[in-house]
Amino acid sequence: MSQIVAFPNFPWTEKKFLKPALNDYKVPQMQILKYMGNKRRLLDWLMKFLNEELKNGDTFLDLFAGTSSVGYALKPKVRVLANDIQEYSSVISSALLEFNGGITEDDFDKELAKFYKKNFSRLMDIFGEAVQEEEKLLNSGSIKDYNQFCLEVPKYGEPVPHDKFKLNFYSLESFIQNRRTLKTKFPYILFITYYPNTFFGLKQCAEIDSIRFAIDQIKDAHKKAVYLSCLMYAMSKAVNSSGHFAEYLNHHSDYASKLILEQRKISVLAAFLFKLSEFTNLFIQNKWKNEVYNYDYQALIEELYKNKKIEEIDLIYIDPPYTNAQYSRYYHIPETLVKYDYPNITKDRSNHHLVKGRYRNDRHQSRFSNTGTVELAFRELFGAISSKTRATLAVSYSDNSILRPVDRLIAIAKEYYETIETKNGYSHSAQGSKFTVNGKGNRDIHEYLLICKPKG
Ligand SMILES: C[S@@+](CC[C@H](N)C(=O)[O-])C[C@H]1O[C@@H](n2cnc3c(N)ncnc32)[C@H](O)[C@@H]1O
Repeated sequence: MSQIVAFPNFPWTEKKFLKPALNDYKVPQMQILKYMGNKRRLLDWLMKFLNEELKNGDTFLDLFAGTSSVGYALKPKVRVLANDIQEYSSVISSALLEFNGGITEDDFDKELAKFYKKNFSRLMDIFGEAVQEEEKLLNSGSIKDYNQFCLEVPKYGEPVPHDKFKLNFYSLESFIQNRRTLKTKFPYILFITYYPNTFFGLKQCAEIDSIRFAIDQIKDAHKKAVYLSCLMYAMSKAVNSSGHFAEYLNHHSDYASKLILEQRKISVLAAFLFKLSEFTNLFIQNKWKNEVYNYDYQALIEELYKNKKIEEIDLIYIDPPYTNAQYSRYYHIPETLVKYDYPNITKDRSNHHLVKGRYRNDRHQSRFSNTGTVELAFRELFGAISSKTRATLAVSYSDNSILRPVDRLIAIAKEYYETIETKNGYSHSAQGSKFTVNGKGNRDIHEYLLICKPKG
């Protein structure tokens, strides 16, 4: 077996990813995922109004936190409670808001490298021949041979004829079923059995599984969240799509294949280490204790009401989904990374094959992302919050939404709140961005912030 395959040159020495973190914002910001509807680019505009509602040391609840760009920006000023229904989001929030220790660039060597190597070596005992072949083809750039190679590597639910690399055993339902009952069994093998030659290349999958194995050896939950966030970032760099995980690019033309080959050369480990180096500059806040939740927002409001914590909250920020794109579809792979649970995958109409996107069966379907239910969803939201607390509510929404014009949303808010101040006029164009939400990115989008004050 070649040296590269058994013990990859640890590419943290590669300078490609080690450019300085750009920060044009006046507030702390850290991007983990390219996230639909994230407020990172709107922070300057948004902070102006949120700051008017908040005094130093106040408590701020971000009920639909996503990548916690807003909570992290406010971290120097207020205590932040962050919530989201997706587990990957609570991991990102925990890394940005709860972790109060230090990160040093040699943390990987000290805490993870040994375990990474152990898992990677074991995977190479199984997949090494195929990984070597992949490496050879990626270097040669031969599209035809690479496409043929992809057809010769099995994945979960799709064994291959002839089984050239003797890997079909790992694609069988019986093997995956066994793993479902022994999720942390060595070696970690989920990505290399579920996603090879779809969202990621074979070696990239081995890197993901091996970093994930190493992370599970860490005891401190918040530090673990930092490492998992770095791995999510690395996956979003390596993924064969425009940064989300809804669908991957097919070999439908030579041009597409060339893009895929380039993407497959990205080292997950190098990207992971790049993000880790950025975390050495994480803004740390020790004056108060931030908290992160992973609930449906209604359950959280109920919980905070019961334990009276809701009385501590000064401002609640609402940034719900506003298009018909379901987050659980666009980000199912970060969810699986965090859960690492060998999920059941949705089947196609024939009920014989797994769907191409390999979506989890248990995906959450948001009622904010459905034209038929969005109005009711907002009524419930305003009703649930206004009946439990007199805190001010700040609501982000946009004219790119499924409930438009925004006056319809304002009319609903007025049923529950005394005054609604509308901050608007912010518009931006997603033009030039590689990442478009739902294919609708290339136009100006007007953003609104509704400041809702309680009745009575
Ligand atoms: C527009 S995004 C929030 C973006 C965030 N402000 C940021 O900057 O990254 C909406 C979020 O709402 C979450 N979500 C959807 N339905 C939810 C529910 N019922 N309870 C809690 N969170 C939910 C989604 O998972 C998603 O992360």
